[in-house]
Amino acid sequence: MKTDSTAAGLEKAIHEKTALVGIVGLGYVGLPLARAMIDAGFATLGFDVDQAKVDRLLAGESYIGHIDGRWIADCIADGKFRPTADMARLSEADAILICVPTPLTESRDPDLRYVESTARSIAKALRPGQLVVLESTTYPGTTRDVVLPILQTSDLAAGRDFFLAYSPEREDPGNPRYTAGCIPKVVGGMDEESLRLATALYSAAVESVVQVSTCEVAEACKIVENTYRSVNIAMVNELKTLLDRIGIDVWEVIDAAKTKPFGYQAFYPGPGLGGHCIPIDPFYLSWLARKHDMTTRFIELAGEINTNMPHYVVQKVTEALNTQGKPVKGSKILVLGVSYKKDVDDPRESPAFALIELLGARGADLSYNDPHVPVLPRLRRYEVPEMTSVELTEELLAQQDCVLIVTDHTAYDCEFIVQHARLVVDTRNATKDVAEGREKICKA
Ligand SMILES: NC(=O)c1ccc[n+]([C@@H]2O[C@H](COP(=O)([O-])OP(=O)(O)OC[C@H]3O[C@@H](n4cnc5c(N)ncnc54)[C@H](O)[C@@H]3O)[C@@H](O)[C@H]2O)c1
Repeated sequence: MKTDSTAAGLEKAIHEKTALVGIVGLGYVGLPLARAMIDAGFATLGFDVDQAKVDRLLAGESYIGHIDGRWIADCIADGKFRPTADMARLSEADAILICVPTPLTESRDPDLRYVESTARSIAKALRPGQLVVLESTTYPGTTRDVVLPILQTSDLAAGRDFFLAYSPEREDPGNPRYTAGCIPKVVGGMDEESLRLATALYSAAVESVVQVSTCEVAEACKIVENTYRSVNIAMVNELKTLLDRIGIDVWEVIDAAKTKPFGYQAFYPGPGLGGHCIPIDPFYLSWLARKHDMTTRFIELAGEINTNMPHYVVQKVTEALNTQGKPVKGSKILVLGVSYKKDVDDPRESPAFALIELLGARGADLSYNDPHVPVLPRLRRYEVPEMTSVELTEELLAQQDCVLIVTDHTAYDCEFIVQHARLVVDTRNATKDVAEGREKICKA
């Protein structure tokens, strides 16, 4: 059914679930969002410039671990989900949600080329009565200063002909407790009508919507959330190195500290930061600060500490091998886990790549296992050899000079790993409950 091209028409269509939702960027964020919209009863058009992804979806295949291929096949079969690479079809959607990447450039400045090209595609197809919502993480001001001017090249007026809002995605991949439908959605509109329409849409699909006064507040909210994580993780990473030097186990300290029922939230140290968000998003804010003649010292310091963690781990591996009378050069080192966090298949920005690069440069004989990443992908920033995940057997473990736990996947049986390995360097406290063979474990 064609939606009447006014705000009232769109609101009615949202209410009656006849509005067609368009999602641009079918990645780790866009695909779960499509599922939330489809589950809410909206037919959904999925747009991606990557034809290979579109083809896989059309064939009923999933490329994201926690999205079931059968669910995709069923939704395609009954027409609820329609993936396409044809951006001209953006005119068909009543509401367009933008979930494209927002990486950093080589010089660590915001790289908005995907947001801009999406906005240009939308501008070409824009028609009266459409709602556009940017969901990609970005600095405050992007919706107003970058997206709006591009959409206005269509000669349609924002707040009258089309509606524009910002609502950050808070997806936590691999966390079954929080799916897109049950995470509160923060929404800021370019004007009251836009806020009302975006709120109506999300209210139909998620448990709660938190309205804020402007797009800028909603944009800042997401960056503040991620900066908070980055800074707190850096703090425990630094404390880990200090407590290690004085012979105190940081994980035991955190377990004790978190029994305090107020005023303390546990963050855990690790081999460095990973993923598309925490290592990147705070630098969007640093860039904005520089434009306003300010510096963000917490962000810079957290970045410095977190980026240095793989070097710390390499030092611990070197010391651990040294206790066995072995140099890194020529030692067989098995890396366990290359995705950036537990139980996900996303390797972006994973510290495993820095570790493989650093240990490789020191002459280590490397292999890896990751049940979620069968082939080591090529990442722009790292020089890593071509590798495929090796099978985790008794023999393989026994052949290693060092087993380095980088990601604590649930699939790893740490009793088994410690039993058969000669030396285990554990960056995640994954071996916490292992009783036998603790003398072989070195925490890093
Ligand atoms: N991954 C997460 O956990 C997470 C969580 C919260 C927020 N975010 C934010 O969400 C946004 C998307 O992240 P992601 O992890 O889903 O990225 P992703 O790389 O998994 O997916 C993005 C998709 O957009 C497509 N794309 C790029 N340019 C396009 C264009 N012009 N038109 C159509 N499609 C295009 C890509 O082909 C890709 O499939 C980013 O801003 C990210 O910071 C990510």
